[in-house]
Amino acid sequence: MDTPPAKKSIVEIVRATKIYTPDVVALEDISLSITYGEMLFLTGMSGAGKTTLLKLICGMEHPDKGLVEVAGKDLNRIKGVEIPQLRQQIGMAYQDFKLLPDRTVAQNIAMAMEVSYQSIRTIKKRVIELLQKLRMEHKHDALAGKLSRGEQQRVTIARAVANSPKLILADEPTGNLDSKTTRLVMELFEQCNISGTTILIATHDEGIYKKSENRVLELHSGRLVQPADRTISTPNNMP
Ligand SMILES: Nc1ncnc2c1ncn2[C@@H]1O[C@H](COP(=O)(O)OP(=O)(O)OP(=O)(O)O)[C@@H](O)[C@H]1O
Ligand SMILES: [Mg+2]
Repeated sequence: MDTPPAKKSIVEIVRATKIYTPDVVALEDISLSITYGEMLFLTGMSGAGKTTLLKLICGMEHPDKGLVEVAGKDLNRIKGVEIPQLRQQIGMAYQDFKLLPDRTVAQNIAMAMEVSYQSIRTIKKRVIELLQKLRMEHKHDALAGKLSRGEQQRVTIARAVANSPKLILADEPTGNLDSKTTRLVMELFEQCNISGTTILIATHDEGIYKKSENRVLELHSGRLVQPADRTISTPNNMP
């Protein structure tokens, strides 16, 4: 991926609809642009389509209608070597974790970096650095399948950011975490964002976005709606 010009979109979705067989309309007529370097939130009730939208962006699902472009590549047309090249630029923290339960924490995180042929020393250092940031260093050699859900969630997040991807998609990244650990995770995302990474966070957790200045998207039964004006109840905006 070349260095992008300012204000260019890393994600461009035009009128995308996703229908799961036989007739579940998970997303309907979605249009969305995400600028390089943006950090934004995706909210909406359970079943509104948040995970499906993240899966369209990372290419795990394809739209039945419409266009999804990531880093200028149309995901419906991308072929051959371009697919792994693009996937390396996207770090996905899955809602259901998708860890390998019989591998250690360190191996699960390192896996994301091995595809980019970094040296073993660099990988080990990065794994330790991320585990320290997420207060998980004592679990370095524990099997992922033996961790609590909150610990598994942090490993998923560490794996998503490990390779310093251009785009991070985080699906309910704080769903199993207490408020202090949520803060650690958000600090990690903020650090990634400051160094230029684009981050889209799907969340039910109002606490992580209500004070933020970042864009908040809201899905309602598969459609993007205008979120309620978050400034409306502040004293300066009172009638
Ligand atoms: N593989 C699938 N096959 C059929 N229907 C699906 C599939 N995946 C999701 N759905 C349906 O699509 C809709 C959107 O699901 P999705 O998982 O995107 O919602 P969500 O906003 O992420 O919900 P949650 O907040 O509970 O994670 C739901 O009605 C869901 O039941
Ligand atoms: Mg979901």
